Amino acid sequence: MRQDGSAQAMTMSERADALEEHKMHELEHIITKSVLFNLADGKVETVSGPALLAQNPGKYVLMGADPRLPKMPEKPTLVDYFRCRFASTAHLLQSATHALKAGHDEKVILACLLHDIGVASFIRCDHGYWGAQMIEPYVDEQVSWAVKTHQALRFFPDESVGYKYPEMYLKLFGPDYQPEPYIVEEYKRARNHKWYMTSRLITVNDIYSFDPSAKVNLDDFVDIIGRNFKQPKEGLGLDNSPSAHMWRTMMWPTRFL
Ligand SMILES: [Fe+2]
Ligand SMILES: [Fe+2]
Repeated sequence: MRQDGSAQAMTMSERADALEEHKMHELEHIITKSVLFNLADGKVETVSGPALLAQNPGKYVLMGADPRLPKMPEKPTLVDYFRCRFASTAHLLQSATHALKAGHDEKVILACLLHDIGVASFIRCDHGYWGAQMIEPYVDEQVSWAVKTHQALRFFPDESVGYKYPEMYLKLFGPDYQPEPYIVEEYKRARNHKWYMTSRLITVNDIYSFDPSAKVNLDDFVDIIGRNFKQPKEGLGLDNSPSAHMWRTMMWPTRFL
């Protein structure tokens, strides 16, 4: 709070914070941000439970679905996450469509469809590792391995399949960017791995605009998902797999605990 208390003197970001706080007060429950969400705003901070209760008398913290987000079904599937939680799916669908048209097998198509779900749903940093962990219990090991290692392979050309260092990376990171040593080591391990080409094919099909007018549709991949992604009967995230909590967190990102 500013000491002079004047609304005019508030900066844009203070005004946005105040508006957000106002909106939170209108909701039935107290909705909070995890530390990670604040870190992304450049703030190392969190608000304690007692402080929240003091700021919101008579209310409880949210311990379930966030009413501001699309409602998930009781037993969600991967397709439900695509529709209700993934912020952008065009790139995933374009890559998978490209792999489908190139006649690759279903493992490669699924790997292309899921390769960036880390980014689409969750977080950018180390998205290949996050995405691989999310899907690992539900797909063939080859698919999750390929998703993990595309993180590294993207930075290294392979002329044998016509893969060059992406122009987009030059624009995004600048010409002097060098991948971190752990990425270089990951690349070296992957280069000699029996499934190298599965991951390499993700990078070959990982094109940002192979045909901007191409019509892509998740419906085209529902059967491939059905055959290659083990949908838990309890619902994805409500099962007991080692990564179920990651899906639950995506379903309930603002649950207090
Ligand atoms: Fe990626
Ligand atoms: Fe990608």
